[in-house]
Amino acid sequence: MKKIGVALLGLGTVGGGTYEILTKNREYFKKTQNLDVEVMQILEKNIKRCEELGVDLSIVSTDIDAVVNNPNIKIIAEFFGGIEPARTFLIKALEAGKSIVTANKELFAKHWTELEAAAKKGNAGLYFEASCVGGVPIIRTLTEGMQGNHILQIKGIINGTTNYILSSMSESGTAYEDALKSAQELGFAELDPTADVEGFDAAYKLSILSSLAYHKRVPLEKVFREGISDISVCDINIGKELGMTLKLLAISKCKNGKIEARVHPVFVPSTHPLASVSGSFNAVFLNGDAVDDIMLYGRGAGALPTGSAIVSDIIFAAKKETPDRYPFMEETEINDNDFISDFSSKYYIRITANDEEGTLGKIANIFGKNNVNLLSVVQRNSNKLHSVPIVFVTSATKTSTIKKTVAEMSKLAGVDAIRAVIRVEED
Ligand code: HSE
Repeated sequence: MKKIGVALLGLGTVGGGTYEILTKNREYFKKTQNLDVEVMQILEKNIKRCEELGVDLSIVSTDIDAVVNNPNIKIIAEFFGGIEPARTFLIKALEAGKSIVTANKELFAKHWTELEAAAKKGNAGLYFEASCVGGVPIIRTLTEGMQGNHILQIKGIINGTTNYILSSMSESGTAYEDALKSAQELGFAELDPTADVEGFDAAYKLSILSSLAYHKRVPLEKVFREGISDISVCDINIGKELGMTLKLLAISKCKNGKIEARVHPVFVPSTHPLASVSGSFNAVFLNGDAVDDIMLYGRGAGALPTGSAIVSDIIFAAKKETPDRYPFMEETEINDNDFISDFSSKYYIRITANDEEGTLGKIANIFGKNNVNLLSVVQRNSNKLHSVPIVFVTSATKTSTIKKTVAEMSKLAGVDAIRAVIRVEED
């Protein structure tokens, strides 16, 4: 039986979950995988945490060199998160020939090329299934289950915190701040929740997934990003009345060699399967030219679900004779023409305006002047003394055109304020 020595860098939420799976299932892996996976070293400052998990303290240290220089350790699983010290440690370990397993999507999205080069230099493996969509095996699906296809589209909910917040706001009318606090208490928000609510976490994941799907480096700066911190319960409720549910979606498409990648809040029809993905769950549609749609659904965060993906990668790495390489990661030049930045969407626009003769006519004139076609207009709670909410839904319009239209509208006498501009997806 093959024996594999593993080191765990950090014993936080996911590190702890991984330790639990590896120790509980060690005998099971011997029987089913013909592998004896032994946790030989753990890098962790918090001794109380190690004791809580029942770790033998003789394998705990804070010395990365002791891990890198240990010839019995073949695989290192990293749980620090963020850029440093993870980046420095991983480069050192990869160059020393240790295979790396990680959930660190920020590090991958920003430094994949550099990590890939270090792995090549050390002839080491680099595995990151846990970096995207937690316990859902999306990377393996893209790279090993769909390689017969040209992948045309990725569309889904890939951040549990924002989905939890939007679901709470929609289902219970919970205020944004309260829903965020509750997501943090439940342990699926990032340490700094800005990464979740402003869409950075989803953008990191979309950059990684799109690169793998389209065999081309999709740098983070080519992923359009908008978060949910300005979303109000009012718009979620109006959307519901119009038959739509609000989600933070990550969408990327590859058409005729051009890639469009974006993360933003968007209304989807309430009958769409993504509309019923509730709480901290994640769900992703992958579309291939041969297989058509595949939908993956499951827990995108948490100790055991993400630990499940880490352990799967450890076993995968242990069995691989030759590490995988992604040649497209070596491209240094990115051609701007390969990416679409000014993409088109339908839009939901809510304004408040004076309830008096001619206001709506002037607004409609601005839409017309900018060639924006209106699909519906709803004026609510008409009251001559106050400004009233008016909701417009447009047909597919470029981002630049909507920005210009909204800017012109905001200057119009009679328009009190532009309250919300939210994209709408129909399919
Ligand atoms: N904060 C992330 C989420 C955890 O909410 O989905 C997994 O990346």
